[in-house]
Amino acid sequence: MDVKEIREIIRKELVEGILQTQDFYVVGNWKMYKNKHEVISFLDKVISHDFKEKNHIVIIPPFSYLYLFEERLRYSKIEYGVQNLYPKDEGAYTGEISYRQALDFGARYAIVGHSERRNIFNEDNSLLSEKVSACIKNNIKPIFCIGEDLNKRQNNDYHDFLISQIREGLSLVSGKDLQRVIIAYEPIWAIGTGVNATPAQVEETHMFIRNFLIQEYGDETGKVIPILYGGSVKPANVLELALADGVSGFLIGGASLDADSFIEINNKLN
Ligand code: 13P
Repeated sequence: MDVKEIREIIRKELVEGILQTQDFYVVGNWKMYKNKHEVISFLDKVISHDFKEKNHIVIIPPFSYLYLFEERLRYSKIEYGVQNLYPKDEGAYTGEISYRQALDFGARYAIVGHSERRNIFNEDNSLLSEKVSACIKNNIKPIFCIGEDLNKRQNNDYHDFLISQIREGLSLVSGKDLQRVIIAYEPIWAIGTGVNATPAQVEETHMFIRNFLIQEYGDETGKVIPILYGGSVKPANVLELALADGVSGFLIGGASLDADSFIEINNKLN
C-alpha cells in the first residue's frame, strides 16, 4: 500500500468518525510574557468561562506564576504546565527546574523542544529525548514540538526533517508510553509572523506525520497520538485550521495572552 492509499483510508476513517484520535487540545504558550498583575486579571476572566467539556484547555505560563495557577485553578477545568524542564530529579543545575518542582505546583504538561529552545538555547534531539522520557516517567504530558524553517519548506525538503525530529526525540520512549506523548507541529516560519500555514499545508503535513506515526509505531499507537498545530493561530483563522484533517488541537502563542482572544478562540471551537 502506498502513502496515498494509506492517507485515503485515514481520511475516510476520520470523516466517518472511526478514527478516535483522542481529545482536542487548546494550549496557550505564554513564553516570557506577563507580570503578576496581568496573570491574575487573565485568570479572573477565564475562570468563570464555560469551556467545552470535551476540549483540554491548557495554559503554559512562565515558571514564576505557577503558584497563582495552583492557587486559583484548583476547581477549574483549565490545566497548566511548564515551558521547559530539566530531566533530573534534583542537583547542581543552576537556572533549571526539575519535573519534581513542576509537579509540586500541579503542572501536568511540559512543552519540550520548542523551536525557540532548539535555536536560541541549542537544545538538541538527544537532550530533548531525555526530557520527553523524564516527562513520561513522571506523569507529565510532553508536548513535543517539531517544525521546519522557511528554507526547508520552500525547497520542499521538510518531510525527512520532521521524521528525524520525531524519531530522535521519542527514541527513549516505547510501547504504550508513546500514547502519552502529544506532538505539536509548529513550522518556524509561521511562529509569531502573522503568517499561518494554510489549512491545506496543515492537512498535508499532519497527515504525513500521522502516516509516519502509524508506520513507525503501529496502528494502536500511531492513530492516537494527538498532533497539534502552532503558528499564528488566532480567532480569525482557528476554525478553518480546525477543519483541516488530522488536527487534534492548537499550540497558541500571541493570541493566548489576551483573555478575550483566548476565550474567543475556544468559543469558535465549541
Ligand atoms: P504564535 O501563536 O505567536 O505564532 O506562537 C506560536 C508558538 O510558538 C506557540 O508555541
